Amino acid sequence: MDSHPHLQPPFKPIFLLILYAFTSIFITTIMGSVIVDSKFTVRPAKPNDRLNLEQIVDLSFSRFLGYFAKHSLHDEGQVLVTETETTVVGFAKLIEFYVYEDMFGCVLWVAVHPKFRRKGVASALVEAGTKWLKQEGAKSVFASIQRRNTASLSVFDKQGFRRRGFLDLYRLFSWRVFVFYWAIWLAPGEVVLMHS
Ligand SMILES: CC(C)(COP(=O)(O)OP(=O)(O)OC[C@H]1O[C@@H](n2cnc3c(N)ncnc32)[C@H](O)[C@@H]1OP(=O)(O)O)[C@@H](O)C(=O)NCCC(=O)NCCS
Repeated sequence: MDSHPHLQPPFKPIFLLILYAFTSIFITTIMGSVIVDSKFTVRPAKPNDRLNLEQIVDLSFSRFLGYFAKHSLHDEGQVLVTETETTVVGFAKLIEFYVYEDMFGCVLWVAVHPKFRRKGVASALVEAGTKWLKQEGAKSVFASIQRRNTASLSVFDKQGFRRRGFLDLYRLFSWRVFVFYWAIWLAPGEVVLMHS
């Protein structure tokens, strides 16, 4: 029995083709976003993540900042990555340092592949990084962010980081506040955020 009796032979295959195309696009879109949104994990970086991480750096920073970000990936410290089922989509670089006898931590770089932004990837990295640094013994965890980088400031704000000015930091570190600035690589135009 013909389910589309009103469609004559040349139109029936075309109708079915269009129906098939729309159904596939719909299913791909819906399934794709489900996979990306809900299935990612945070883990320490492995040596074979390098190319993926460098690509994320290239897509996320200017050449100048990217140069330092890439170097930082290979310097001392821990790199956490976020991955979906198939690929690495973001990273955070963590460092530990001492002022007097106390150990502190810093989330030095965070970047997410542009296709995977606004899905909570950076938030998951900052949360996991802060937890990891505190488990390592950090008394507080810091970050230094360009004051105009509202996206990054929001990510850290939502994870409980608060802005600390020079006087707040001086109360904490006295004259060694400069040792602190050096340790977190404070750059011009950046503000210091702290998670206590
Ligand atoms: C900043 C960055 C890391 C954010 O990554 P992300 O995975 O998209 O961030 P999240 O999805 O966890 O965002 C959490 C919250 O931060 C805020 N936010 C994130 N990106 C934002 C944007 N572009 N504009 C405004 N608010 C933003 C939102 O409040 C968001 O919550 P919501 O999506 O529920 O509204 C990403 O945009 C990036 O890689 N930027 C380039 C590199 C960079 O600037 N790194 C930071 C300096 S080291």
